[in-house]
Amino acid sequence: METLTDRFGRVHNYLRISVTDRCNLRCVYCMPEEGVAFTESSNLLTYDQIVEVVETGAALGITKLRITGGEPLVRPNLDQLIARLAAIPGIDDIALTTNGVFLAKQAKALKAAGLNRVNISLDTLDPARFAFVARRNELRRVMEGIEEAAKVGFHPIKLNCVLLKGVNEDEIAQFLKMAYEHPIHVRFIEYMPIGHADDNWRRMYLPLSRVLEIAKEQHYAISRRDNVKGNGPSEDWEMEGGAGSFGLIHPISDHFCKNCNRLRLTADGNLKPCLYWVDELNVKNAFGDPEAMRSLLAKAMDIKPENHEMAAKLADGTLTHVPTDRRMSQIGG
Ligand code: GTP
Ligand code: 5AD
Ligand code: SF4
Repeated sequence: METLTDRFGRVHNYLRISVTDRCNLRCVYCMPEEGVAFTESSNLLTYDQIVEVVETGAALGITKLRITGGEPLVRPNLDQLIARLAAIPGIDDIALTTNGVFLAKQAKALKAAGLNRVNISLDTLDPARFAFVARRNELRRVMEGIEEAAKVGFHPIKLNCVLLKGVNEDEIAQFLKMAYEHPIHVRFIEYMPIGHADDNWRRMYLPLSRVLEIAKEQHYAISRRDNVKGNGPSEDWEMEGGAGSFGLIHPISDHFCKNCNRLRLTADGNLKPCLYWVDELNVKNAFGDPEAMRSLLAKAMDIKPENHEMAAKLADGTLTHVPTDRRMSQIGG
């Protein structure tokens, strides 16, 4: 079978699909308080169009999908899209990354539609801090969303916790305790300066080495684990005797480009071969023409860079932000 293999031999089987750039939160590491210029609804890919891209992708070896945003659950009838994607031959894993606010309401329908996994953002367990980080007072609904996701049977449930210096670093122990006591996989994520030179990043970036130090201080017997279901860049760890586990996602201090298996599709219809790169390919002219869609996907492979080579430059201050015009919410993480 023809596959999506780039110039460096990396085989791509994973497509991240952003269904909207809108969001009901305004996390400090993602969007400015006033929001960004959102895509007009008429410029969003329709569900029919998303299905068309995935059908061609699946014929070229895409087997895993992740639905992202903005916040994907603000797009109406997402369960209907999931059901259509789940029916495409070759697609065997569909996951969702959500902020969790609307999850309690939708979890059951999403599960019934064929969604396999959910990753939920949760940076703090303190309501006032949550209101500071997300600029909205929604912690309670997120916690209800996590509970409901567990209740309807999503497994594993992963929590994404972006570590922010001076904001939530003193909660690492509490998050580890949560992962020890509950069947939850908590991932600590390094703050990435995407799409903007931002003072927030300079002030709040925290390398993840603190997590392992704290795990040891708390006397957890930790060891590397490689069987967490997922397709992403997380380095996973288990705590002996723990119900759950934890992971580290550190694109800045240790980038993982050599194993990259993913392509991205933005809500406004652009294929993005690399999260950090400006280059994009618009799919809108290829609708109705599977051959044109196939060659766009192949071209995305040809223009994909080997790596972002930015870790060192960010660390020594010669680079202040990642050179893409898009914010994280306009890419989907
Ligand atoms: P699974 O492993 O399949 O559960 O998902 P994931 O970790 O890839 O997805 P998720 O949307 O939960 O992303 C978690 C964090 O990893 C977010 O901060 C993403 O921005 C980041 N991330 C995902 N893919 C990449 C990537 O290709 N490069 C970089 N630098 N960061 C990524
Ligand atoms: N750096 C790291 N992670 C980020 N996310 C959003 N913006 C950033 C950033 N600048 C995370 C969210 C969500 C996932 C899609 O990406 O917390 O969990
Ligand atoms: Fe919304 Fe996610 Fe960005 Fe937070 S990180 S503002 S929840 S898109």
